[in-house]
Amino acid sequence: MSKRTLITSALPYANGPIHIGHLAGVYIPSDVYARFSRKVGKDVVFICGSDEHGIPITMRAKKENTNPQNIVDKYHSLIKDTFDKLGISFDHYSRTTSKKHYAVSQDFFSTLYKKKSFIEEISEQYFDEKAGEFLADRYIVGTCPNCGNPNAYGDQCESCGTTLSPSELMEPRSMLSGNTPVLKSTKNWYLPLNEYEDFLQDWIIKGHEKNWKSNVYGQVKSWLTEGLKPRAMTRDLDWGIPVPLEKAKGKVLYVWFDAPIGYISFTQEWAEKTGKNWKDYWKDPSTELVHFIGKDNIVFHCIIFPVMLKAHGDYILPGNVPAFEFLNLENEKISTSRNWAVWAHEYLEDFPGKQDVLRYVLLSSSPETKDNNFTWKDFQTKNNSELVGIYGNFINRVTVLLHKYYGGKVPKGTAEASEFLEISKTTRGIRKSLEKYEFRNALSTLMDLARFGNLYLQNRKPWKTFSRDKEKTEQTLFIAAQIAAGLAHLSEPFMPFSSEKLLNMFRLAPIDWEKLESGSPLILTGHLIREPSLLFSKIEDNEIEKQIQKLLLTKTKNDLQNCGVKPMKELIDFEDFSKIDLRTVTILSAEKVENTDKLLKMQINTGVGVRTVVSGIAEGFSPESLVGKQVVALLNLTPRKIRGIESQGMLLLTTKSDGKFSFVVPEDRNVENGTEIG
Ligand code: 2FM
Ligand code: ZN
Repeated sequence: MSKRTLITSALPYANGPIHIGHLAGVYIPSDVYARFSRKVGKDVVFICGSDEHGIPITMRAKKENTNPQNIVDKYHSLIKDTFDKLGISFDHYSRTTSKKHYAVSQDFFSTLYKKKSFIEEISEQYFDEKAGEFLADRYIVGTCPNCGNPNAYGDQCESCGTTLSPSELMEPRSMLSGNTPVLKSTKNWYLPLNEYEDFLQDWIIKGHEKNWKSNVYGQVKSWLTEGLKPRAMTRDLDWGIPVPLEKAKGKVLYVWFDAPIGYISFTQEWAEKTGKNWKDYWKDPSTELVHFIGKDNIVFHCIIFPVMLKAHGDYILPGNVPAFEFLNLENEKISTSRNWAVWAHEYLEDFPGKQDVLRYVLLSSSPETKDNNFTWKDFQTKNNSELVGIYGNFINRVTVLLHKYYGGKVPKGTAEASEFLEISKTTRGIRKSLEKYEFRNALSTLMDLARFGNLYLQNRKPWKTFSRDKEKTEQTLFIAAQIAAGLAHLSEPFMPFSSEKLLNMFRLAPIDWEKLESGSPLILTGHLIREPSLLFSKIEDNEIEKQIQKLLLTKTKNDLQNCGVKPMKELIDFEDFSKIDLRTVTILSAEKVENTDKLLKMQINTGVGVRTVVSGIAEGFSPESLVGKQVVALLNLTPRKIRGIESQGMLLLTTKSDGKFSFVVPEDRNVENGTEIG
């Protein structure tokens, strides 16, 4: 019996598109692992779906001025389509608003309820009386007790990074109405995580020290050292799966309760679709369950969900939880709200046919053990020097030479040669790395085979030996063809599109890894291959420049948002604008208005008459310095009295953020007074 393997990828929130951080930190590695596991003959099911509940969804709906259902519908299809196009080979991609998922989640809750696994607790939560809603932590803002930031959230201050609880905020206000929320009692159902500390100690700390990644193991250990607390599994919200209890009307399941149950409900959906038995994958202890996640999900997958599974009692526990660190973009944290990201669907539009390039680059800089960085320059270099320069170049040389010398047929040769062993060595190397979730090593082992191939051709120089040593040339190209075939098979988990192209070029059917490791020839003498076609193509500077410009534009927009400049006023018509009478004027005299600090009274020559204006600029200019200055004034502002003096116009000034001001002056110094501006 082949080993049953259930692979899951963290369910992405359907509150925005997928970006390269998601891909590098979860979806591409998990896909490589799933494809590899199938190749080594495991019985694999690879499950994922959109996470459609929780505050991230309702917040997005508020931002886009729509309802949560519209948000999840929109982003679920965009995300699903992106995964399809990138070759993420889920066996089933569902969503947590599916009927099945509702039923399975409610049933799970009811089982725990009946087993008395929850504790009921009444607590005081902030309530917005105007909106008639309890407020999630993110919906409460107030002053941070640590740094004084007036806009800290109920769960965190983004200014100083402190983790907060809503009750710690000073002067809290509701983001829904702006009003001060009141504390109101509410009952919720808590999972007493503290009662499972011994179980977690035994299962993870004693049982998985060796095979779990150190970042995951270390985080769990420190959580356990700090001690666990009961955690509410229900929420007073109106978006989510209703709690299946009469006395919990109006409450929903906590999103982190329902989302991981998605792994189970989606497996059930898949089993119904394929006629399989889902219980084989969730209830048989010989099944290997692997959760691929980002580091921010560790506590949920290693503590909360396992405690839920343990409390339920019917399910297996994860055998491994490979968690990835974060990917930065051009040395800055990827951020959806600041639009600092490379969006996968935009990449697919900008670089059609280059899915594998993104897969390759993201895998080669996958944030396995520490945060990593993506830059467009590096993307270009990896494509041009590695995929085109090494991999593509080798394939191209082999196919061209086979056609040139042997009419596209693999010549005679012996697989006994030591060089042939490189293929099985590479296969074993990749297997070893992938079994340890070391994707970067696995990928570089694959590339080493292409490097080896190039070196082999370089040393044997078939273009030189062809005229004088028939046998040697045949052997060279026989081996080169084997290496090319090896690359075609071995690249499948990493670059499935190119692998397929290559297998087609060599007219080969996919084979499993046992065969690749066995040392028998992969392509036989006399086998006819197709005409060479290009696997990868160079990415030019202008394409990269375009992407860098796009990011610069984002940066400029973000900087503008943060620089304190007031937002633009409402639009006006040209007609409104043409009513404004702006002219060049010269200041004839200036004097301070008695008993004021700021006001100056000035006589100005407007070209259409001499007028008096009063302006609050005395702190910035001495009266003498103004006489003779030509500036710009608004002439047709309705006169108004300031300190008893009628001001018949307004001088135009710019005020900088430090409060200093200066006049708007005509660039041409010899302009007649009364010249219109517009
Ligand atoms: O962090 C996230 O994006 C969550 N939506 C992941 C959920 S994974 C799971 F447990 F379903
Ligand atoms: Zn703070």
